[in-house]
Amino acid sequence: MDESSDSFRTRAIHVGNQVDPSTGAVVPPIHLASTFRQPGAGVWGEFDYSRSGNPTRGNLQTTLASLEGEQCAGALAFSSGMAAIHCVTMLLKAGDHVIAGCDLYGGAYRLLHKICNRSGVEVTLVDMTDPAAVQAAMTPKTKLIWGETIGNPRLSIPDLADLAKIAHQQGAIIGVDNTFGTPALLRPLEHGIDIVMHSATKYLGGHSDCLGGTLAVAGQSLLDELYFIQNATGAVLDPLSCFLVARGLKTLDLRVREQSCTALKLARWLESHSHVKSVLYPGLEDHPQHATAARQFDGGFGAMVTFELAGTMDQTAKACESTRLFHLAVSLGAVESLIEQPATMSHASYDPTDRAKFGISDGLIRLSVGLESFDDLKRDLDQAICTALEG
Ligand SMILES: Cc1ncc(COP(=O)(O)O)c(C=O)c1O
Repeated sequence: MDESSDSFRTRAIHVGNQVDPSTGAVVPPIHLASTFRQPGAGVWGEFDYSRSGNPTRGNLQTTLASLEGEQCAGALAFSSGMAAIHCVTMLLKAGDHVIAGCDLYGGAYRLLHKICNRSGVEVTLVDMTDPAAVQAAMTPKTKLIWGETIGNPRLSIPDLADLAKIAHQQGAIIGVDNTFGTPALLRPLEHGIDIVMHSATKYLGGHSDCLGGTLAVAGQSLLDELYFIQNATGAVLDPLSCFLVARGLKTLDLRVREQSCTALKLARWLESHSHVKSVLYPGLEDHPQHATAARQFDGGFGAMVTFELAGTMDQTAKACESTRLFHLAVSLGAVESLIEQPATMSHASYDPTDRAKFGISDGLIRLSVGLESFDDLKRDLDQAICTALEG
């Protein structure tokens, strides 16, 4: 059967999820074995040791590779999103230079500035929505450009093809974190990106019940190198979590499209709210990169919404603490809606000067819009904002 012509939604259900030949089970069994009997001494079968390869992880990686599009040479599943990003940074050596986005997940910021720097890797943060600034920051030592398809927390949208061109002109690799975008709405490898990363903890798993990370890679030699690093350093995803992510993928398309619709409605409603100073959502016509987003995204702009309250630091915290349905929690991408204050939570690991420089103000609130109904979420936010600002 030629699976490549099937739609995204169909592949998410069938590719990597073949019927178990020994029992007919339509859900493949979870292989917990850590080691595999070999055909002979020094003779290697398909699997030998679970760090190097595991059937359940292999199935998940097959599904993921199929969802990232034709350019994908293969995918790797890691124990967390950070482990996946760390694997990419292990391609670098002392003296190499990285350009990363200034609208970057706090954990990636911390990895680059407080771990990679120990090995002599230098980092420059640049506004990824400004290709001229990225070009100007390139040095002969630049080996990696690292961006996010939807920046965090300001939801900036870089032009992926422009960035890929800048990286490749100089022989650098470009990787992007597509956790907010998801492969349902955006497949960066189709835009010339070399490596796409996801925190599978978020939309891919989708239910706030497992940690994981993934890389999908455009070229075989780069994939081989990343696999070598993963196997040598060991941060693979365990079989039970592989199963949970694989199950999440089956409903990814449905979930993300529905959540994106609700997010757009909430963003429009927030824009008209008297206590809201500004709303950042790529689906709004006045978002600075709306045109780029409309070109790159496929039928939805994601389910993350950031807005700024016309209130103090304490009032903002109070609003985040006053919701009933939105849980006050870091993370995102699950069926339940979450609310957080980036300055004190997801981006607390930024230096305060960088937070101020990159617009991560104390009044900023980030929403991860779940699958609850729009009306319930709107009512919940409204009462929380009014409680905080009107006392
Ligand atoms: C955009 C983004 N990238 C990467 C990560 C790290 O993923 P994990 O927590 O699975 O290590 C996160 C976690 O919040 C994230 O939001």
